[in-house]
Amino acid sequence: MNLIDTINKDNLPKHLAIIMDGNGRWAKQKGLLRALGHESGTKAVRETVETCAKLGIENLTLYAFSTENWNRPKLEVDTLMKLLIKSLKNELKTLMNNNIKLITIGNFEKLPSSAQKELSQVISQTKDNDRMTLTLALSYGSREEIVSAIKEISSKVKNNIISIDAIDESIINQHLYTQNLPDVDLLIRTSGEHRISNFLLWQIAYAELYFTDVLWPDFREKDLYEAIISYQKRERRFGKTSEQIK
Ligand code: FPP
Repeated sequence: MNLIDTINKDNLPKHLAIIMDGNGRWAKQKGLLRALGHESGTKAVRETVETCAKLGIENLTLYAFSTENWNRPKLEVDTLMKLLIKSLKNELKTLMNNNIKLITIGNFEKLPSSAQKELSQVISQTKDNDRMTLTLALSYGSREEIVSAIKEISSKVKNNIISIDAIDESIINQHLYTQNLPDVDLLIRTSGEHRISNFLLWQIAYAELYFTDVLWPDFREKDLYEAIISYQKRERRFGKTSEQIK
């Protein structure tokens, strides 16, 4: 039996988030430049996006560039931005063919104007697609996102738009970059690192975590199936007892 046949289509994560890690180490192991690791990483992005759409996953969020990644050597930052632009140009057709909507989370204004322009075009052209939402976290940091939400809410309180008593989890959700996305059900991190690295801290409160040693450029369809199969074997209790949720 194929791995895909063991996946229960009625129990897919509604929101899958991935920390794509290990491009640099993949390149180093092969004696290649880091840039080639990132380039190979884009192929894994494409395969993962297509597989998620095929499976019926409604929301996929990829950690493509963190607020901390700005501290990398300028050459590497430039390479990543160029790869992003190239991928957006190349993959618009894939997004349209698979009925996928693209959105971004993060500090959009900090991105180079060429990347902003390309992203805006793809976002606008895919806005009515409704099979899957692909969210790219770009210049994204969860703490920055939370700070920004607190500022917006405080300003609304100051201007009597909302009262302090009205602040609840739903209000906070509405002020995060991920406002229209459901909570993350499954978070995958590749490359053997067991860290969250400032990614969706609020949104992963009850996510199942899955770590694999596979380096991102080697992440294939079967690795995604294995992660989902592991997710489907877990009992998600959300703080309740096993008996309560049966
Ligand atoms: C982590 O590997 C990966 C990144 C910082 C960037 C991820 C980017 C891509 C997969 C390509 C472009 C993205 C899109 C959406 C087209 P690392 O460099 O931290 O690896 P290392 O830890 O082994 O050095």
